[in-house]
Amino acid sequence: MRGIVLAGGSGSRLHPVTRAISKQLLPVYDKPMIYYPISVLMLAGIREILVISTPVDLPAFRRLLGDGSDVGVSFTYAEQAAPNGLAEAFLIGADHVGDDTAALVLGDNIFHGQGFRTVLAEQVTRLEREKGCVLFGYPVRDPGRYGVGEADETGRLLSVEEKPAQPKSNRAITGLYFYDNDVLDIARGLTPSARGELEITDVNQAYVARGDARLVDLGRGFAWLDTGTHESLIEASQYVQVLEHRQGVRFACLEEIALRQGWITADAAYALGERQASSGYGEYVMDVARRAGARGQAG
Ligand code: G1P
Repeated sequence: MRGIVLAGGSGSRLHPVTRAISKQLLPVYDKPMIYYPISVLMLAGIREILVISTPVDLPAFRRLLGDGSDVGVSFTYAEQAAPNGLAEAFLIGADHVGDDTAALVLGDNIFHGQGFRTVLAEQVTRLEREKGCVLFGYPVRDPGRYGVGEADETGRLLSVEEKPAQPKSNRAITGLYFYDNDVLDIARGLTPSARGELEITDVNQAYVARGDARLVDLGRGFAWLDTGTHESLIEASQYVQVLEHRQGVRFACLEEIALRQGWITADAAYALGERQASSGYGEYVMDVARRAGARGQAG
């Protein structure tokens, strides 16, 4: 499965904070926002990741993430010249996806929950066997702000609506989407919506019409956090801070995930931590690497 992180947009709801910096580079507590969605793809076992952003912001993402080899993945980059909609990711990323299945994650979506790796791995495997798409649902108080899905008891989606005035359920469709390779053709066949964008919800509706769109409920034991407003952004930071501080673990630590996936050695992870040793984040990476057998000594 090939991964795409879409980190475009003008972040206008967060102006003036995002006038000179991409929203997806803002901190969520101790790391840039885009680390969180990237960590989701890495947890799903996806190692080929295309980062899409605006022509202005793309160089900053390259500076932050590089080619990915240090964390055992490959990051490539592509521009979205104008905010033409989420589904444009599959026109821009068609060569990257090739004839594989595809995962799209929005660069501002934060997921956290026990067993997430297993949930993701199950769905990756499922899409290798079965046609269709897998969307991830999450119960929210205000579903009308999101894509909303209605599923039967087997998890087959019966409808998907974008920001409906009368939501048919409280299940928001989160910004993580797994598709079979047909998504490329479906995206090519889209026409812009009333707001002039290629809508991801139209892609999802095409799968609903075919009868092979599935909903996986993340349920209330998970956290799916929003970062669209100043309030939700600080709430997300507070959530991460509280749990990291309490548990002594860090979320979305790319070096740690690479190590646990067996993509880099403990020594390599240690060296990555050492490079950022003056931050708590770097110390944490060194510590994790040491516990995994790295030869580096406590400094
Ligand atoms: C987009 C999608 C929406 C989805 C949401 C998740 O909305 O259109 O279906 O629920 O992302 O973050 P946007 O945030 O662009 O309004």
